[in-house]
Amino acid sequence: MIYHSQREKLEANMTVKERLVSYLEAHKGEYISGEELAEKLNCTRTAVWKAVNGLKESGYQILAVQNRGYMLSKSSDVLSQQMIENYLKEVSDTTYAVSVFQEITSTNDVLKKLAVTEHVGEGTTIVSDYQTGGKGRLGRSFYSPKGTGLYLSMLLRPTGTVVDNLILTAQAAVAVYRAVKKTLGIELAIKWVNDLYLNGRKVCGILSEGQTSLESGHLEYVIVGIGVNLYEPEKGFPEEIRNRAGSILGRPSECREVDRNLLAAEIIREFYALAKEKQLASDYIERNMVPGHEILVIDGKGQRKAKALRIMPDGQLEIEEEDHSVHTLVYGEVSVRIKDDVRDIYC
Ligand code: BTN
Repeated sequence: MIYHSQREKLEANMTVKERLVSYLEAHKGEYISGEELAEKLNCTRTAVWKAVNGLKESGYQILAVQNRGYMLSKSSDVLSQQMIENYLKEVSDTTYAVSVFQEITSTNDVLKKLAVTEHVGEGTTIVSDYQTGGKGRLGRSFYSPKGTGLYLSMLLRPTGTVVDNLILTAQAAVAVYRAVKKTLGIELAIKWVNDLYLNGRKVCGILSEGQTSLESGHLEYVIVGIGVNLYEPEKGFPEEIRNRAGSILGRPSECREVDRNLLAAEIIREFYALAKEKQLASDYIERNMVPGHEILVIDGKGQRKAKALRIMPDGQLEIEEEDHSVHTLVYGEVSVRIKDDVRDIYC
């Protein structure tokens, strides 16, 4: 068999259902007759009909109208393994094993289990539409409601120790910054160490977890988990985070649409590419909103005021303490809040 393009080769190995998702996604909002679909997908009309029913059962909003055909609704935004993998194949030769869940406890926890019990390899990625037990840094929870965000975890099997790999979390923040800019044209700010902000509100958090071998001191795996708030939840954010949490696009009815599969693919591609770099991406320093601000440093010993001076080339934060001594903060069990001069609080 002679294939004229990489895409043709990929499509030849896909099931009718998979090819149908691809085709309908590419023609979202347009009616396509069963006859045309059968011809394009190289199958019978009955096979098209069966595949449409299968997709509807998976949550796709497909309208079927007599004499017009089938249409994937413009507002249909189902997270799909097929679509994410298709996007990834368009832009990268690397193979990623992506699994998509509509509901999960925590993408980090499930991936951790797979890393330990199934020994899954680098590139294994879990994406979910909803987390019942989303985890945040410092033992907090991460609010992860259905249909409004993107929650994903990516596995790395890096060489070296924890210290050698400290920049991974910062590289993940850069991956989100770049992916959001590319797919939505919106520039987020990065807040040291691993949050992304828009209009003074946190719209993305990152939690990196890993396991070190006690014998070698080397990392066995690292899981980088990213939670993005795309839309404002219907009833708003819960009381305890209402002051600080925000979304990239606002209320679903008022805002533009986003293809979450494309956004997920871009984050995955950017992150795994950045993870190979030894140096921190300059975007992390240039887009960082912390330097120059009065901050509250929160660590195991409590909290204290300081002034953020600059982000160092290795990602550490240089600060000036109240006694004017200068030193750097390393990632880890430390977080900072920036003084909001208007509200006179630390956010
Ligand atoms: C934080 O802001 O404290 C970090 C939040 C990290 C949330 C993400 S969502 C995907 C992954 N799975 C989790 O349980 N947590 C991370």
